[in-house]
Amino acid sequence: MRRSIARRSSFQMSILSIVGVGLIAVFGYHCVWMWQEVRHQETLERAANAVEQVLARNSELMPTEMWGRVDELLLNLGNVRAKVHGENDQVLYGPQVLLSKVKHKKTYMHSLVGLGGTMPMRDLELAMDVSEDKKFLNFIGAVFAVAAVVWGLFIMLLSGTLARFELKPLNKFGRKIASFDPSDLTARIKTEHEPEELYPVIEQFNKLIGKVGQYHDQLRSFNSNVAHELNTPLSSLTVSHELLLREKNPDPEHLKEALHSHLEELQRMNRIIQSMLFLSHASQGQYNDFRVVAKLSEPVMTVMDYMEAMLEEKNLQFELHGDASARVDSELIKRALSNLVSNAIRYAEEGSTIHIHIDNSTVAGQVLFTVSNKGVCIPAASVPHLFEPFYRVDQSRNESGHNHGLGLAIVAAIARLHGGEPFAQCDGDWVRIGFSLKKGDSSSLAEA
Ligand SMILES: Nc1ncnc2c1ncn2[C@@H]1O[C@H](COP(=O)(O)OP(=O)(O)OP(=O)(O)O)[C@@H](O)[C@H]1O
Ligand SMILES: [Mg+2]
Repeated sequence: MRRSIARRSSFQMSILSIVGVGLIAVFGYHCVWMWQEVRHQETLERAANAVEQVLARNSELMPTEMWGRVDELLLNLGNVRAKVHGENDQVLYGPQVLLSKVKHKKTYMHSLVGLGGTMPMRDLELAMDVSEDKKFLNFIGAVFAVAAVVWGLFIMLLSGTLARFELKPLNKFGRKIASFDPSDLTARIKTEHEPEELYPVIEQFNKLIGKVGQYHDQLRSFNSNVAHELNTPLSSLTVSHELLLREKNPDPEHLKEALHSHLEELQRMNRIIQSMLFLSHASQGQYNDFRVVAKLSEPVMTVMDYMEAMLEEKNLQFELHGDASARVDSELIKRALSNLVSNAIRYAEEGSTIHIHIDNSTVAGQVLFTVSNKGVCIPAASVPHLFEPFYRVDQSRNESGHNHGLGLAIVAAIARLHGGEPFAQCDGDWVRIGFSLKKGDSSSLAEA
């Protein structure tokens, strides 16, 4: 059977009310029992005093007369029977066993020392038939038990009905979700007229829809960007081929030139496709060649060796600060760094210095890679978008034939593969872009 809040709460309520009523019943039963006990005690005490007085007052009478007075008194007292013991434990008055056939009786002993004169008495034993009271007590107990069970069942039915009634808004909310139109991800479920308890659920649902909407928009813009980026070189290739085909006697030199430029276009398209494939594989976590690198400065130096010619071309210097060890995929780290450094070279002021910092982050167990260059600051509004695929600050795609806005998206994907995040800051005319990564398993780092 499926779990049901209504069923569970009505069951819990009925158990609680059975326990509650049960406790009251036990208390009530106990009170009646106590009251009966006190009453029996008082009756027996009073009877004992009365018998004692009769014996004291009539001590000079003949025993038969004296016992006759006691008989008269007991007749008036109703269900109390008496027995008088002499000094030598002999029974002076009454039967050997008081009320021998009665199941529920109450007994009481009272000292008669000093009474009896020539027939000295020791004590008076009284017994009282309490069967009727016991019956009443049992009846009360049964009434309380039945009342507790009936009350519990009643509460179960009532709370089940109430719970179902109170949970109606939840069913309504379920129906609203079922009828939610996925083609309109801007729509939200309103919290007005809904019970307070549902607010957090509705808010979370609305947030989720908001996020799904964002992803949907990103996917749409990603698709249109891909189409746009590939469309431009494909169109120019198509036009160029058509023109070449129209030429009757094409000049071999001209043909060679055209082929050369076509090859460049094809290589450009290939780069875009390779970058997109990389992003897709990275988002599926397909890279896992992680090894401990004792000196992260080493992959940095390898990248900088490749970049030497580019640095010289713009008369740029380069400085490396700090070092650290971490468990990383070296090839991916080099790829991220070369994307950052190639951007820095492109945007750095001529003759300036590019700084690369490898620092232990203030967040425990993390390393930060930062590439800084002197140049024009990135507008604050653009910073949050820098790591989105195909995003370029100037967005003038025509001028950026070789740059597609994929470099920083790849940096971000590599950072996330290493348990870190990318970041970008502008400080005066210094642009600092980098990423964090988790150092990885501390035991393997210690070995390194
Ligand atoms: N060091 C920097 N200084 C100023 N702007 C930068 C810097 N690095 C990146 N940017 C801005 O961020 C944008 C995105 O960078 P990204 O590396 O993703 O793309 P790209 O360099 O234009 O193209 P790709 O890397 O695909 O060749 C760039 O177009 C540029 O506008
Ligand atoms: Mg780039």
